[in-house]
Amino acid sequence: MRIAVLTSGGDAPGMNAAVRAGVRAADAAGVQTYGVRDGFAGLIEGRLEPLDSRSVSGLLHLGGTFLGTARSSRFRTSEGRREALTHLDLAEIEGLVAIGGDGTFRGIDALSREGHVRVVGVPGTIDNDLSGTDFTLGFDTAVNTALESIDRIRDTATSHGRLFFVEVMGRASGWLALYAGLAGGASEVLVPEQPTDVERVRARVQQTFAAGKRFCLVIVAEGDDAGGAYAVAERVAEGTGIDYRVTALGHVQRGGPPTMRDRVVASVLGDAAVAALLEGADRVMLGQRRGEIVRTPLETTWSRPDRAPHELLALMARLAR
Ligand code: F6P
Repeated sequence: MRIAVLTSGGDAPGMNAAVRAGVRAADAAGVQTYGVRDGFAGLIEGRLEPLDSRSVSGLLHLGGTFLGTARSSRFRTSEGRREALTHLDLAEIEGLVAIGGDGTFRGIDALSREGHVRVVGVPGTIDNDLSGTDFTLGFDTAVNTALESIDRIRDTATSHGRLFFVEVMGRASGWLALYAGLAGGASEVLVPEQPTDVERVRARVQQTFAAGKRFCLVIVAEGDDAGGAYAVAERVAEGTGIDYRVTALGHVQRGGPPTMRDRVVASVLGDAAVAALLEGADRVMLGQRRGEIVRTPLETTWSRPDRAPHELLALMARLAR
């Protein structure tokens, strides 16, 4: 049997560790793995190369993805997917492991329905917005990266008694904002999942300073409906005379070495993905829930029934006093 592995969508720390685990698990089972360059874009062009245990040495601790990644609009068309299937057929590849987020999973789901290849997904996105796993690869690293900056900002904010707005990534997902806010001692967290009430944020900021605190932090997910941290900051501070600063953390959150947790989960899920393919699985994502490896149908992973962060938002509000 021959299998292929690719990474797709936004890169996430831990992707390399997952590829390494998959290649080595396949090697141990006597299965040949092919790496696909640049995700779906490379698959359409047939950019496949054989990988073995040695070709994935020295990658476990590296962020990014050595295979490269891309967001491919051509793969969203059936013609693009037909070209990809032709290359997989020519290389006699029966199974594909794809590491990425919901866009990646939608892509491989369609691919498997239209051709002869079986597909399994490994959740890799700093957004943590997939059902069927407690955490996606890269989320833990990204939160810790954001926290490192937030802790530094706290030092300068406390010295000046200043209000800070920190923007974190998350176009459609508030998980990164929420965890960074909870762990960073924020007074408010604004997420795309719920509408932003500027009046409420202003009241919270005023209460924070009135309670004698010298540090007031508002975390804003980039996809917040009020338009990101700069726009929110201007509206919240309007007419208050409060001294404030804004920091947008941006893509620093996507890079850097994966944390222990991301390396371990990547190793577990990369190995499990290959085992699933060898057992004949198709159109499932491998995830970890409460320490157990679970398989979830791909189409369930992006429907997000169990992913609303409302409870944690309420906890944040209770602790911010
Ligand atoms: O991968 C997820 C993510 O980081 C989102 O949080 C963000 O909105 C998006 O990717 C940005 O992606 P890019 O800059 O690569 O287009």
